[in-house]
Amino acid sequence: MPLADFLSQLAELETAAREAFAAAADTHALEAARVEFLGAKGGRLKAAQKGLGTIPPADKPAAGQRFNAVKTQIDADFAAAKERLASAATTGQAADFDPTTPGTPLVLGHLHPITQTIEELKDIMGRLGFSATEGPEIEDEWHNFEALNIPASHPARDPLENFYLATAESVAGAGGTPGAPLLLRSQTSTVQIRVMENTRPPVRIVSLGRVYRPDTADATHYPMFHQIEGLLIDRRVTMADLKSVLRLFATSYLGRDVHIRFRPSFFPFTEPSVEVDMQWGEHWIEFGGAGMVDPNVLSAVGYNPDEVSGFAFGLGVERLCARRHHVTDIREFYKNDVRFLHQF
Ligand code: PHE
Repeated sequence: MPLADFLSQLAELETAAREAFAAAADTHALEAARVEFLGAKGGRLKAAQKGLGTIPPADKPAAGQRFNAVKTQIDADFAAAKERLASAATTGQAADFDPTTPGTPLVLGHLHPITQTIEELKDIMGRLGFSATEGPEIEDEWHNFEALNIPASHPARDPLENFYLATAESVAGAGGTPGAPLLLRSQTSTVQIRVMENTRPPVRIVSLGRVYRPDTADATHYPMFHQIEGLLIDRRVTMADLKSVLRLFATSYLGRDVHIRFRPSFFPFTEPSVEVDMQWGEHWIEFGGAGMVDPNVLSAVGYNPDEVSGFAFGLGVERLCARRHHVTDIREFYKNDVRFLHQF
């Protein structure tokens, strides 16, 4: 092959290789181009090298020199293309990422409004000297009824008014009789009994927790709700103490302009008994019951009614929270709609 032909073949090869490497959009395309031009077997550069042998001996040095130069250039073009693809990969979508754009804010969760209310009520009562205690939600009839002076014949014990459990086994550690019927507690007054059974007077406790009643849900009722139970037992405790504590409690939670009112009522475990209403704005709202602990209850837990007396109260936590935050339907608390919950 004449030298001129060989040289023009090399020039063509050099251009074709440069263009192929530059056009490779990804590593697969680049590898294909590498095999085409630089492949050890059947690569185009290898094929061109074979042409060297057919050059007239006098032109060989020039042809060889040119061949080496072209090979070096093609190697360099390949290395440059490889470098270009590698740096594109590490900067990723560098072109459409703007590090100065403000990030998406992280939305932090918070406690459920009822949990927040419970914490706040505990805190208020704590400042009044009442320590917080808890009792089980699964109860026996002794703590939910009997010891609270609610006899078997009382309508409140009707199975249709309570969530009795199908199992009759007593809760471990609950202190009930094995085999006795169990129910989800219908009131936190159960905790009064549990505390008095285990402590000597004076007693000054609150208990906040869930209670269960088969009520149809509406704006002010729900089959599960929370109560705050308060109990104070000491010498010479009077109704006036009860009213003072409830007034302090109400004004601490709802504000100075809240008034409280007692209406005569009846609970088997208090005598006398009252309904506790609170006024807020125009309306009087019923928040629960209260009264002086019935001597029968004191006797049931082994206290001497001639020595000590006390008061107890049980108020609805959902109602307090709803009042404070202008919630008109307590079912909202249990829908788990974040648009509602976010507001607290
Ligand atoms: N346990 C009563 C109820 O659930 C409320 C109450 C508590 C009344 C303590 C008097 C004393 O309605």
